[in-house]
Amino acid sequence: MSGVQPGLLERNHFLLRRLHSLSGVIPIGAFLINHLLANSLTPTPAAFNEEVEWIHGLPYLVFIEFGMIFLPLAFHAGYGVVIAMQAKHNVQAYGYADNYRFTLQRVSGWIAAVFIVVHLLHFRFAGLVGGTSYPDVVHDGATPYGAAYAGFQSFLPLALWMIIYAIGIVASVYHFANGMCTFCITWGITVGNRSRRAVSIAMTGLALVLLFFGFRGLYGMSSNFEAGQTDSHGLPADLAEHRGDLGHDTRPGEQG
Ligand code: HEM
Repeated sequence: MSGVQPGLLERNHFLLRRLHSLSGVIPIGAFLINHLLANSLTPTPAAFNEEVEWIHGLPYLVFIEFGMIFLPLAFHAGYGVVIAMQAKHNVQAYGYADNYRFTLQRVSGWIAAVFIVVHLLHFRFAGLVGGTSYPDVVHDGATPYGAAYAGFQSFLPLALWMIIYAIGIVASVYHFANGMCTFCITWGITVGNRSRRAVSIAMTGLALVLLFFGFRGLYGMSSNFEAGQTDSHGLPADLAEHRGDLGHDTRPGEQG
């Protein structure tokens, strides 16, 4: 009898791999589609404010946010790092497309992991790095667009934010679209070369649509900027007059 007992991760390897695979599609992949689509449909400050107002009106928002987004994402990213560290890359020996895709899946996962942390610290949890969190700025009476606008003027120049977001969007979209192809293999949805090729083509189409959504949202945010026109809170002067528009005197989850 061997004296080395398998660890917790090895003993639950199959279940963890399946949960990792599933979480990449539902809810994280579904959220990614929704997030990019919603941002692309709100190219003007008024549309952006309306959309965020709707989201902030959802009941039990904190539970939705943590239970359906942050926790699954933390699991997928955490176990994804474990998988990525175990990978044996062999593109130098076998330069086939599938080997490159295998490596790119992991590289894009690493980039997405860093980007998502930056994105969360930039807006949702800016308070942790000495800034003002987006919900707090909105809570103080700024419009959501004004708060997002201020975020793109904090810490770094706008051009650098745009580059960081462009890289993050490309990596996340590639990771999701290529991940959908491997997901179909993992779950036995595509078994032959023909079906795998058909899914690859469909996912290339999906990736292009998602990239369009992502870059349209980014353009909508950057093109409404007029550098230097901010008030003492770092909010855009032309939007400061809309403070309180939404009538938020409480934050989601703080009613009553
Ligand atoms: C934008 C957020 C993300 C989405 C939408 C997403 C989605 C997916 C999907 C759909 C898969 C395919 C699952 C399968 O092959 O069955 C996958 C695989 C993978 N993800 Fe993510 N993911 C995200 C973020 C991350 C992060 C932050 C990491 C951290 C490194 C990561 C690491 C991985 C790894 C290593 C795989 C390959 C697993 C394998 O080959 O078995 N992912 N992801």
